[in-house]
Amino acid sequence: MDIEKALLERRTIRLYQQKPVPVEDLRFMIDAARQTSSASNLQRLRFVVATSPSVVNEMLAKTAWAALVKPRRTPVAGETGPAAFIAVTVPAGFNHIVAADAGAAIQSMQLAAWSRGLGCCWIASIDKAAMKQILRVPEEREVLFVVSVGYPAEAPRSEEVHSVDQLAYYLDESNRLHVPKLALEEISVWM
Ligand SMILES: Cc1cc2nc3c(=O)[nH]c(=O)nc-3n(C[C@H](O)[C@H](O)[C@H](O)COP(=O)(O)O)c2cc1C
Repeated sequence: MDIEKALLERRTIRLYQQKPVPVEDLRFMIDAARQTSSASNLQRLRFVVATSPSVVNEMLAKTAWAALVKPRRTPVAGETGPAAFIAVTVPAGFNHIVAADAGAAIQSMQLAAWSRGLGCCWIASIDKAAMKQILRVPEEREVLFVVSVGYPAEAPRSEEVHSVDQLAYYLDESNRLHVPKLALEEISVWM
């Protein structure tokens, strides 16, 4: 898949087919994160990849999904749950620069996954203490975000809008998720 297609067509996926993700594809995601820009090239992020169903399901129970369309985009273990999670850990007491590194790395991972036919959800709403314990993260680090990974069982679409009053994502009558995006001219000034 070319980069243009992945950039424009990637959508957050919250419902998944129940089939495993090739280890090679998960490695590709981490490799994409590895090659991503980081402030001063300090590479302070570390990644915990969970594929064992018991760990994945434990993590799933400590995440919160798409509040605006609850519960229809909250995956259910064994029915619509992800095949894997990648947790992004940062040094405890991290600053906004490290958080920026994490954001860049996660977008790289999402695009890498999409290019292999996989979908992700970048999740900030996590029980951090529980994640730290489940994943046996060392004391001096913390879990900042987790990313779910799996083969999509939904096909969300983006649509162009012109007002910040129209940004709420929604499900249509066929249970398809619509994701409003502000038009280019609404978000950019050219000089
Ligand atoms: C920093 C960040 C945190 C997010 N946290 C969550 C989350 O906790 N739960 C969730 O379901 N989606 C989460 N998302 C996904 C967003 O809801 C999603 O990106 C947004 O609705 C736009 O959809 P799109 O990714 O398809 O463009 C998060 C995204 C970002 C960038």
